[in-house]
Amino acid sequence: MLHRSQQILFNHSVGEGYYLIGFSCAKMAEHAKPGQFLMLRMNDQAWEGKLSRPFSISNVKDDIIEIVFETVGKSTHNLAGAEKGKEVNVIGPLGNGFRVEKDADIHVLVAGGIGIAPFPYLATQILQECPESKVIALLGVRSMSRLLLTKFFEECDIELKVSSDDGSVGHHGLVTELLSEELNVLDEKEAAVYACGPDPMLKAVAAITVGMDTPCQVSMEEIMACGVGACLGCARKVREGDGWTYKMVCKDGPVFDAKDVIFDED
Ligand SMILES: Cc1cc2nc3c(=O)[nH]c(=O)nc-3n(C[C@H](O)[C@H](O)[C@H](O)COP(=O)(O)OP(=O)(O)OC[C@H]3O[C@@H](n4cnc5c(N)ncnc54)[C@H](O)[C@@H]3O)c2cc1C
Ligand code: FES
Repeated sequence: MLHRSQQILFNHSVGEGYYLIGFSCAKMAEHAKPGQFLMLRMNDQAWEGKLSRPFSISNVKDDIIEIVFETVGKSTHNLAGAEKGKEVNVIGPLGNGFRVEKDADIHVLVAGGIGIAPFPYLATQILQECPESKVIALLGVRSMSRLLLTKFFEECDIELKVSSDDGSVGHHGLVTELLSEELNVLDEKEAAVYACGPDPMLKAVAAITVGMDTPCQVSMEEIMACGVGACLGCARKVREGDGWTYKMVCKDGPVFDAKDVIFDED
């Protein structure tokens, strides 16, 4: 884990309310794994007294780390206005990251909205490690105006299927319906599923994949104060043996096997 102050190299809009920010750090780039995250805050008066915020590593290109973020509250709106050359404090890479399932013939990436953020790096890694296998990305959005990162998948020749809540783009319905369709036409092929998005989506993905005995990893989101396992604020219930235990999303996750996570009302 490294703690660095880095200058922003670029920061620009990549869709309605979405931004792509990049900074250079050779050491972090060397150690970063897909699915890991960074704790980030700006060296700025507006962030005075504020905690760092967690963001997934979206991609690594040479020594450049890219983050894709959505403006939701004060810190992310402030970050959206940060210009090239401004300093950001970054701690990372943190957490465990995704495990590439090397025996799978088809890797299905399932994202809800900004949950697609870690998938460019994961897709790149899968294509490198398993060149014979196929990668499919499924993205669920509220409406067409909320699409993001589609260009990345086009450029990598990765099939991207979209669903939207209002039917303005792709399948009118839930991204988990697209997942069921994909898993139902596998024939003899082995699939592996990787998911990132809101809890209800992850819960539905887990139900589908556990029911079909398909390996599935889910990247969980929790409010994080420290990001390193010290404050115990990001605990989630995870199955262990015949019972359950608390695991820290920041330190033990954020990626867990779907079959192990105990979602609300389980
Ligand atoms: C492991 C992990 C990876 C993430 N990766 C990304 C990413 O790649 N891109 C992205 O846009 N967002 C990501 N998030 C969510 C991002 O951290 C929050 O959107 C951000 O912290 C909101 O800060 P804010 O001050 O703008 O909003 P606030 O005004 O603080 O809150 C707005 C919303 O963000 C949530 N939130 C606030 N603080 C945190 C926190 N410390 N951790 C998690 N959620 C929080 C709140 O529940 C609330 O719903 C990730 C979160 C986690 C845990
Ligand atoms: S955020 Fe502090 S223990 Fe996870």
